Amino acid sequence: MPAGDKVFQGSPTSAQQEAAETYLAQVAQHPVIRAVRATAVGMLSVASGSRVLDVGCGLGEMSRAFASMVGPAGSVTAVDLNPAMVAAARDRDPAMPADAAVKYEVADVASLGYRDEFDVVWCERVLQHVPDPAAAAGSLARAAAPGGRVCLLDVDWGALVVDGVDEALTARVLEVFQLKVRQPAAGRTLRRRLVEAGLVDPVVRSVHAVSTGLADAASVIPVLDRRQAALVAEDDRDAWFDGLALADIRGHFLMAMPVYVAVATRPFQD
Ligand SMILES: C[S@@+](CC[C@H](N)C(=O)[O-])C[C@H]1O[C@@H](n2cnc3c(N)ncnc32)[C@H](O)[C@@H]1O
Repeated sequence: MPAGDKVFQGSPTSAQQEAAETYLAQVAQHPVIRAVRATAVGMLSVASGSRVLDVGCGLGEMSRAFASMVGPAGSVTAVDLNPAMVAAARDRDPAMPADAAVKYEVADVASLGYRDEFDVVWCERVLQHVPDPAAAAGSLARAAAPGGRVCLLDVDWGALVVDGVDEALTARVLEVFQLKVRQPAAGRTLRRRLVEAGLVDPVVRSVHAVSTGLADAASVIPVLDRRQAALVAEDDRDAWFDGLALADIRGHFLMAMPVYVAVATRPFQD
């Protein structure tokens, strides 16, 4: 599922959509994602009355958080490529009167129709799924108003490490997994994407996820989750998932991976 599958790249089946929603809701509760989001929100310090765009909004947790931050004088637009995801986000919106009303739309990050409109453009864990991240970054940059900020967040599957299982097996499994993700190194490229899109004053931070519990790690890293066995070559499956379980029982298991945040500003003159 998630990374390494078509579910976040277009029109999933209803079973895939259900699994994707479960996954996104689970990931949103994870301390690492909460920490990365808090880091990014701290870098942005979103003011009351701001106009915010959340691209690839998923279930819309951050759209609703921004609606509360900007209040009724502000605005939030939430877009996603997948109409079922937009519907799921809309269904979860309690429409609080003290918050901005969130406007939901179906759109592709690479061809957003917005120009010079938003004080904050947020795009979390989307660039890893797109065929052309540079086009996506350009489209996000154009949506920002002069002086507005664009904030990209993404994991770096290419820097995922696992210890406690046979090293050669681990290297093979992670290589196969990374090949299934469209942009496995998305995280490390975020700052450069913003600069290449013509934005200025880039700032980059990362939160290093480290987990020594298999159940915890598998809740956010699909290749560690036995239910996502299809992500592992058939010949390696039993050895991999049995090896992970044994490492966990022995107290040897460790997983680590950086998650990046990059923020930059649209200049007043391009
Ligand atoms: C991993 S989810 C992240 C969702 C949300 N940003 C979050 O952090 O919970 C990736 C989201 O990006 C959406 N997506 C993928 N490709 C997209 C594209 N080209 N344009 C807009 N959204 C896209 C998917 O439908 C999915 O909702």
